[in-house]
Amino acid sequence: MQRIPSTSDLALHRGRVPKIWQKEIESVLISETHLRTRVKELAAEITRDYAHSEPVVISLLNGSTMFMADLVRQIPLPIELDFVAASSYGTRTTPRRVRFTKKVSIDIRGREVLLLDDILDSGQTLWETRRQLRTLKPYRIKTCVLLDKPSRRIIRIGADYVGFTIPNLFVVGYGMDYAHQFRNLPFVGILCPELFSNEP
Ligand code: IMP
Ligand code: MG
Repeated sequence: MQRIPSTSDLALHRGRVPKIWQKEIESVLISETHLRTRVKELAAEITRDYAHSEPVVISLLNGSTMFMADLVRQIPLPIELDFVAASSYGTRTTPRRVRFTKKVSIDIRGREVLLLDDILDSGQTLWETRRQLRTLKPYRIKTCVLLDKPSRRIIRIGADYVGFTIPNLFVVGYGMDYAHQFRNLPFVGILCPELFSNEP
């Protein structure tokens, strides 16, 4: 069984890939420390902006689970949590279709909604999810993503809150996967190119 590195291992390696992941992960893009700092900053910003409201935070499964868990615990407001799941299919060259496999359970009519995702890439998932949620007549929907890859955008959409803007790299960890793996890495890493086939 693989051992998950402890925080102290990571402190020692700081920016270097912990030994147990070196076969699969080429480098650490965002360390655990940087994630923690930035998530705290985002939470402070969101807390200020929503100071007098009771937002519903809706998180897109599965990629944004770690981000959501860390973010909302730093927001001292009466928030409610819900999840949606979307799966998209198609290729990079044809518009992908987004299908919802889990819909929102809370009644969001008239509510402030903050929609969270792990990464804004082509923009299709966030755009389509927001469009679907709008049909439920919330008061307003704002969006928050941990990572933004603007160079990959197909649809014109930006997020209201962005953790980090990153170049066109395939990343894993902190909730994000490649073929269902690597979600449990405590940092955001770059996958070794030989493990990665380009078509999602
Ligand atoms: P979009 O619809 O192209 O914006 O895709 C967004 C979704 O694709 C994200 O929610 C992720 O699940 C996935 N994704 C995009 N880029 C990456 C990546 O670099 N690593 C892991 N998942 C990614
Ligand atoms: Mg996702």
